[in-house]
Amino acid sequence: MSKIQRIGVLTSGGDAPGMNAAIRAVVRCAVFHGIEVTGVFQGYEGLISGDLKRLHARSVAKILGRGGTILKSARCAAFHEAEGRTKAANVLRDAKVDALVVIGGNGTFTGAQKLSEEHGVMVVGIPGTIDNDLAGTDYTIGYDTATNTVVEAVDKIRDTASSHNRLFFVEVMGRDSGYIALKTAIATGAIAVMTPEAGMEIDDLIGILERGEESNKTSSIVIVAEGDSNGGAMEIAAKVHSRYDKYDTRVTVLGHIQRGGDPSCFDRVLASRLGVGAVEALLSGKTAVMAGLVNEEVVYTPFLEAINRKAKGLEEELRVAQILSI
Ligand code: F6P
Repeated sequence: MSKIQRIGVLTSGGDAPGMNAAIRAVVRCAVFHGIEVTGVFQGYEGLISGDLKRLHARSVAKILGRGGTILKSARCAAFHEAEGRTKAANVLRDAKVDALVVIGGNGTFTGAQKLSEEHGVMVVGIPGTIDNDLAGTDYTIGYDTATNTVVEAVDKIRDTASSHNRLFFVEVMGRDSGYIALKTAIATGAIAVMTPEAGMEIDDLIGILERGEESNKTSSIVIVAEGDSNGGAMEIAAKVHSRYDKYDTRVTVLGHIQRGGDPSCFDRVLASRLGVGAVEALLSGKTAVMAGLVNEEVVYTPFLEAINRKAKGLEEELRVAQILSI
């Protein structure tokens, strides 16, 4: 029998559509197993300051399909310091919270690992980030919704690009990973995609644009991952335009619309499965691991492995994007 009587749950780092579905799953699964749940507000900031509230099964009603996070989120500098983590561990002890579920990305799990190492806190993670940049899961919660948002926006840009025979550079999020860029480049038929992993040079891009012009393309879309080493979409557009000006050029930076909106069916189901998986992992004694989905199965990966950015599937998808953009 597990000794856990009360678990805490928090969301941290950049929010992602589906975080609410994950919170709901954690709360309901815990209640199902007769365990109390404490909601921690504002991520690690609330863990340090003691911003806690009991959550019941009904506290999480009607949030399954809502974007954002009812627990709020933050990027917390104080949690990078040992002093901040000691305060957080004391808050957990005083509130009689025996174990923690953290929903977030790289930074969230780095902090959780330290909390576990330094203070023996039992903690399991759920991957909640639009970036899809964690090892140990085929998909992170929010990635599917964010990519659908990008596709919807780029389809609209395509209409106007086509009407005016323009070249558009569209910048998408992903921090230092190119998953959002690559997936949406394929889905929108972009002529090229610039990602940190592929490391394409400006000359290569100009070559692709020239070939497109020769094969009678009248307008084109280039998807740029925000972390590309040539700079953001503005910078890349300027570099290209100074050497190749056959097209009237425009830039769109999609920004935070990619983080908002109601989660897709895929993200709701993923979040629900991983929420249950995280609670049941704690009950079976697991700690310092992230629950993820690999080949349709819930699996657990140590935080230290999960935060090593994955590079799965990128080469094959890049090849598909290149073949189909001729
Ligand atoms: O990690 C999610 C993410 O949206 C990244 O894609 C992006 O680089 C970053 O967060 C933006 O963070 P903020 O909202 O703090 O500016």
